[in-house]
Amino acid sequence: MSAETIRVGALRGIVMRGPAINETLAFYEENWGLKLARDDKDTIFLRGTGNEPFIYGLKNDPTYGIEYIHFAMPDRQSVEALHRQIGDRGGYVLGEPAEIGDGFGGYGFEMLDPDDRRLRFTCEIGIIDPIDDPVRPRKISHVVLNTPDMGGTEKFYIDVLGFRVSDYSADQMVFLRCSTDHHSIALVRGNYPSVNHVAFELPNIDGFMRSIGRMKQMGQVPSWGPGRHGPGDNPFAYFVSPSGFVIEFTSELQQIDEQAHIAQIWSRDNPENMDRWMTAGPPTPAMRAVMQGRPDPGFRHLRANS
Ligand SMILES: [Fe+2]
Repeated sequence: MSAETIRVGALRGIVMRGPAINETLAFYEENWGLKLARDDKDTIFLRGTGNEPFIYGLKNDPTYGIEYIHFAMPDRQSVEALHRQIGDRGGYVLGEPAEIGDGFGGYGFEMLDPDDRRLRFTCEIGIIDPIDDPVRPRKISHVVLNTPDMGGTEKFYIDVLGFRVSDYSADQMVFLRCSTDHHSIALVRGNYPSVNHVAFELPNIDGFMRSIGRMKQMGQVPSWGPGRHGPGDNPFAYFVSPSGFVIEFTSELQQIDEQAHIAQIWSRDNPENMDRWMTAGPPTPAMRAVMQGRPDPGFRHLRANS
């Protein structure tokens, strides 16, 4: 895409939805290591140890899926420029940029991606003091999405939102970046739109292992891992949340040098490409099934022509 493409800023977080998902708050606080930021009854917001006022949300809803994925923009000018770009390049925006009325403030807008997921872009959200605790997640590292249209969805994230390809895993996955992180979004070839997993970043490998230890002491071992991925070079340990979503602890995600990085296609033929430490092995059929997720209809009904 042309050099003047406006790029989406860093991933701030994600709000999930599902039946009685609010009731899983204790799991996220005590086991997973997040802290309550605000309880709006309908939606619970949790923070990590970084400076975002919230990184994860739980919204009670009859449907399992994503309420919205939240990205940062540097200022109002870039919010408005991105909004124009999305309109010009065939994306579907949900209204004009405006003050966000959810209590955390900020200025931004929302749109729908090709699978009708809601994406939110904001600036001017007040940052908060970080917490010095290496055993709790600091931020959302990345969100991995299953899509029935890999090519079309990849093209949309690149052309309309300014993401760049960091790597491919065979013809099954594409890793997309919007910051120095190797990937903030990754797409997996799927039969329908759904959440594959959401990854939470620990500040270092010790915090990563100790977080796995906390989970183990509370009775839950990883459903896959610990191991270390090839693409992104990040350690992984996957768990299943009480609502049936796959969640990951990770750390040390590869940082991309824009001048030097060349995307490659990682073969799946060599196990060490997928499992650098050779500790994890491939995911079990049961784990693969949970990662396929439950069909997420998204917000198709918000399209004017739906
Ligand atoms: Fe991941």
